[in-house]
Amino acid sequence: INWYPGHMKKTKESMKRSLPLIDIIYEVLDARVPISSKNPDVDNIIGNKPRLIILNKADLSNEIANKEWERFFLNKGIPTIFVNSLTGSGLNQIVNKSNTLIKDKMNKLKDKGIKNRPIRAMILGVPNVGKSTLINNLSGRKGAKTGNKPGVTKGNQWIKIKGNLELLDTPGILWPKLDNEELALNLAFTGAIKDELLDIEDLAFKLLEKLIKLCPVLIEKRYNIIVRNHSTYEIMESIAMNRGCILKGGEIDYTRISNTIIDDFRKGRIGKITLELP
Ligand code: GTP
Repeated sequence: INWYPGHMKKTKESMKRSLPLIDIIYEVLDARVPISSKNPDVDNIIGNKPRLIILNKADLSNEIANKEWERFFLNKGIPTIFVNSLTGSGLNQIVNKSNTLIKDKMNKLKDKGIKNRPIRAMILGVPNVGKSTLINNLSGRKGAKTGNKPGVTKGNQWIKIKGNLELLDTPGILWPKLDNEELALNLAFTGAIKDELLDIEDLAFKLLEKLIKLCPVLIEKRYNIIVRNHSTYEIMESIAMNRGCILKGGEIDYTRISNTIIDDFRKGRIGKITLELP
């Protein structure tokens, strides 16, 4: 993640320049942490432009939680789709939903005699939510670039995707809010913050603490242990023993077991887990 204030200002400005060319915004969030991966300024930046929220990495999130988030955003008047950008699963809804959302605008254009104009979309999201993966999947290998068009910010290209949709090839990068510890931790758990910047043992301990509260049964199943009436320390020790993460002197290898737990969570091996609910 690039945190330089100068860089942040520049991307925000280029995003604002592109905005007038855009009919619909695709705001990409991580389905496991829809609030932590959301930039709170985005609502101000895009104003009342039509928006579809794309909850990505839904292959890793909990299906019941997905339903709750769908309802939450719909109550705010924003439709959502849940997708897996790696496989493209769920992405077939994008054309229909987009057409519905910008029907009024297209009808107005038709009244002015403008027909068959492509719908132009831009992807926005914080780092690591899967913006590039999504763009690659939507454009496909053959993804034809439609070339620079008058009025388009220099360097930006439109990629033809399904239906009459065109996507700006460079996504808008927003920055997450890191001043709230819980939200920052959620981003760290999901891998959105570089691990080198973090104390891996501390992170694994906090993740385990959270998972024990959220989904004790999944932890018990994955590591073949009993969670009830045990402290997080004891549980971590049991997991390490079961996994043979023991150093020569018989001490627990905390670094190794920490990496195992974090990796298991990120790859979905513990289960489909959503870390926050509306
Ligand atoms: P920045 O370039 O940092 O802004 O990131 P980005 O938003 O473009 O994310 P990117 O497409 O690079 O994806 C980040 C990581 O998430 C990669 O390792 C992807 O393989 C992975 N990823 C993206 N989409 C999905 C998904 O739907 N499911 C899963 N399991 N992983 C995904």
